[in-house]
Amino acid sequence: MEFLHITVREMEEKDLPAVLEVENLCFKKPWEKKDFLYEMHENAYSNPWVIELGNNDESIVSVVGFCIYWQTFDSATICQIAVHPTLQRKQLGSVMMDEIITDCYAKKVQTLTLEVRKSNLKAINFYKKHGFNEVVVKPHYYEDGEDAIYMMRKVDLTF
Ligand SMILES: CC(C)(COP(=O)(O)OP(=O)(O)OC[C@H]1O[C@@H](n2cnc3c(N)ncnc32)[C@H](O)[C@@H]1OP(=O)(O)O)[C@@H](O)C(=O)NCCC(=O)NCCS
Repeated sequence: MEFLHITVREMEEKDLPAVLEVENLCFKKPWEKKDFLYEMHENAYSNPWVIELGNNDESIVSVVGFCIYWQTFDSATICQIAVHPTLQRKQLGSVMMDEIITDCYAKKVQTLTLEVRKSNLKAINFYKKHGFNEVVVKPHYYEDGEDAIYMMRKVDLTF
């Protein structure tokens, strides 16, 4: 099956089974349904989006990843970004990242930040590819004691 349409759009409740599948496959401490509902309906600073693949006549459409970023005034933080493991390294994460950066730029956000596990080398590479720099290590940031790397980039459209 060839997928021809890639769409990034706002997360809706109907997406949650697919979102939770990706979440459970990708993260050590996965969020629950209630956490995503909070981001969609209660957190005014949150932008929860999904990435969807569709075939030519849109008869098959699948949600295969998602991202959430929080915007507060002129700064924003990427809270989650994930692609289904079977579809990673096909530039889908990059499509979401480009959408985030474009949206931040339109909203006059100056800096985009995030935390990532020190051991998560593929994500660190992914963020570096998208112009993020390592700023500082946050020791024992995660519940299991792992350090986080705090990363940042300026929001412009040069990457
Ligand atoms: C991080 C993640 C979202 C990246 O999405 P993706 O669609 O697989 O990434 P892309 O295909 O857009 O990759 C873009 C670039 O990132 C880097 N990258 C991505 N995956 C990589 C890997 N496994 N190893 C090394 N570099 C990698 C490469 O520079 C790549 O460019 P290239 O393919 O031209 O070499 C995805 O790996 C993922 O869902 N991981 C699990 C969840 C997670 O850890 N999220 C981040 C939490 S902080």
